[in-house]
Amino acid sequence: MNQDGALALLLPLIHAQRAPALWVLGEHGGAGMPAPNAAVAVLSNRVDVSDEMRAAGWAAQFSDFDFAPWPAGSLEAIFFRVAKEKPVVHHVINAAAERLAPGGRLLLSGAKQQGIKTYAKHAAERLGGALEFRKMGHQYLAVVQRGAAVGAALDDRDYPRLRPVIEDGTLRYLTKPGLYGWDKVDAGSALLVAHLPDCAPQRVCDLGCGYGYLSVQAWLKLQPQQVVASDNNAAAVLACCANFAAHGVAGEVCAADCGTGIEGVFDLVLCNPPFHQGFGVEYDLTERFVAAARRLTAQGGQALFVTNAFLPIEKVARRHYARITTLADDGRFRVTQLMP
Ligand SMILES: C[S@@+](CC[C@H](N)C(=O)[O-])C[C@H]1O[C@@H](n2cnc3c(N)ncnc32)[C@H](O)[C@@H]1O
Repeated sequence: MNQDGALALLLPLIHAQRAPALWVLGEHGGAGMPAPNAAVAVLSNRVDVSDEMRAAGWAAQFSDFDFAPWPAGSLEAIFFRVAKEKPVVHHVINAAAERLAPGGRLLLSGAKQQGIKTYAKHAAERLGGALEFRKMGHQYLAVVQRGAAVGAALDDRDYPRLRPVIEDGTLRYLTKPGLYGWDKVDAGSALLVAHLPDCAPQRVCDLGCGYGYLSVQAWLKLQPQQVVASDNNAAAVLACCANFAAHGVAGEVCAADCGTGIEGVFDLVLCNPPFHQGFGVEYDLTERFVAAARRLTAQGGQALFVTNAFLPIEKVARRHYARITTLADDGRFRVTQLMP
């Protein structure tokens, strides 16, 4: 992954930080991180990012941006490259108002089209302190001071709470902001479900499960003995666990980077791989998901992928699977069956 320009703006400041601070890392974490700084803890909602940071020597925590480990007023700085979703950004700004000591700073970075100017203005109102705004190339850095008295909380759509938002026929799914397409059924996933096989698989694996739509559908339609679902996003793992419980799915949900650590093989592997990572487009992930699916597909089993129709899935799949069949293509999404 190429390093994100807005994230890069924060790195020298994180490196120079001496008083207790927190670096909040979401979908932009990962590549080319600097050497660890003992004054700065890391909080990430991505398991791959927190694992990588820990391996590099950082004190990193993985959670759905749960700030509870840092008491009110305990931090002198919080660094955050703004995330794609507004409720996430507002959640972090609200947490900064509580966790920063008076005089502490929230350092936000992002590009203009990502709403950084509006976020900075709202952060200054929330933190009740001065705002300094710097343009650096195409990116912006906002330094917001925590004043003596803070302002009203920003609307984060009650970020931590799971809620029954999605109705799909008679089914309801628990979901929340902070996970991919949290308030809808993904059109690609719906196309995949329409092409689930006629078989009765014993074991199903769902890679990049989100709130668990594919798993729950496979459970209800195919009645396997077990479903194993995984995602690298903490919010997705929480929501998927809740939906497994709500729909009586027998199985397990784990936080994993492209299925790393899942053991055994499965008769059916399902995957709607992410196409957009952060604000950019990520092709390498497709390759990693296909390779993981191959490792997890039993002889005689199959994987079903749904991808954007213009993604070269066959080219990637040929490197891993012997038989590749397009089951559906509606011009937007393609369902591809992969067999060893
Ligand atoms: C297009 S969404 C599909 C979600 C879900 N399967 C559905 O059908 O609604 C892709 C999912 O992959 C997850 N994801 C992204 N990168 C990942 C990675 N490296 N490892 C595991 N999951 C990842 C995202 O968090 C997201 O939930």
